[in-house]
Amino acid sequence: MKNEINIGLLGFGVVGSGVAKILHEHRDDLSHKLGVPVKINKVLVKDVNKKRNTDLSADIFTTDLDEIIADPTIDLIVEVIGGTSEAKQAIERSLRSGKGVVTANKDVMAQSGLELLQLADENRCDLFYEASVGGGIPLIRTLEDGLASDRIHAITGIVNGTTNFILTKMKHEKKTYEEALQEATELGFAEADPSADVDGIDAARKMVILASLAFSTDVRMEDVFVRGMKEIRKGDLELADQFGYTIKMAGSAKKDEAGIEVAVEPVFVPNSHPLASVNNEFNAVYVYGDAVGETMFYGPGAGSLPTATSVTGDIVAACRNLLLGVNGKRLHAPQFKCKIKSDSQKYARYFHRISVKDEVGVLTRLSAVYSNHGASLATVIQHADRNNGGVDLIMITHEISRQQHLDIMNELQNTPEVIEVLSFYRVEGETR
Ligand code: HSE
Repeated sequence: MKNEINIGLLGFGVVGSGVAKILHEHRDDLSHKLGVPVKINKVLVKDVNKKRNTDLSADIFTTDLDEIIADPTIDLIVEVIGGTSEAKQAIERSLRSGKGVVTANKDVMAQSGLELLQLADENRCDLFYEASVGGGIPLIRTLEDGLASDRIHAITGIVNGTTNFILTKMKHEKKTYEEALQEATELGFAEADPSADVDGIDAARKMVILASLAFSTDVRMEDVFVRGMKEIRKGDLELADQFGYTIKMAGSAKKDEAGIEVAVEPVFVPNSHPLASVNNEFNAVYVYGDAVGETMFYGPGAGSLPTATSVTGDIVAACRNLLLGVNGKRLHAPQFKCKIKSDSQKYARYFHRISVKDEVGVLTRLSAVYSNHGASLATVIQHADRNNGGVDLIMITHEISRQQHLDIMNELQNTPEVIEVLSFYRVEGETR
């Protein structure tokens, strides 16, 4: 029986320093919970001489991964380097050497999760990745354990803290996109390359992880429809509010008899829906199960200590397994083939903002475009805003397929009365 657990920490950035802080400040509680102390023995960094505000002794910092992997006293590797190739190699090498891994790496888990989980099983090691999705919200464990007996048919919500922070600051504090992004970066919410956040890639990776786990299948990045927040046009946030909606960067994964659809895009959420009130870097995820019904999980989706809380939660789980000698005994193989729906099988309501010529008969002409494609309109309003010498028309459809929406967009762009299709959004959070 081990009398202590020793950790090799790979990376000492926003998350790594948070992990060290929690392990240090909560050491007595953790030791009580596990029955043995948990210690960081070595830390992999790029520059050992960099000044760091930490209680860890300077001599445990190293630039040599081999030194950590070969160290027989190290029981568990915690990977918080981020990025892809270096981190993936480090995880693979750790698992092959028989050391369990805790990672916060959504890039690697979205791209190679199944392969790595299999490698972990082959080597009788644990591979935990709670912090890869939802910052401090225990979502992975909820899907793997709490909701394990249910059939999940949908997961929707906000899974990127940075974009939610930016949208909140733009809406409520009238900050510019650039100011809000800079603030999110300074607070440690944004990725090293924040285009992953604002272009929806980070959220797409998280939806790949969640959908694969929830639907017991193998969703790939190329299966996800992604639209970034740069598609949000000037005036859209205010316009949404006037119609009783809030724009949120949302992820959604839905499964029915026709197949699976996974998307990340800016959507219109009714102001009365709880997602509309999820602000700043907070995330909120709805999970719908056949038996449980609707559940909602809310919490900080980014930041040092919230993310580190998920990492240390995994450390505790891995330590328990190490102490019991039962690590690497989990079934991860997907049960189902991933069948992605075509655009004509994905249904939603759509909001269209169209700049049109201010002429007699335009409304009739545009309404005809919608009816030509079998789309019924819920709302048609000529808005006071004027763009490019025209007026803005707002059309909100009843439920139509994505294919109908695309066909309508295409025809509108070729309609002489239309100056420009300014923006469009799927409406999320309303029942059929
Ligand atoms: N950049 C990520 C976000 C960090 O803003 O959600 C947490 O995964």
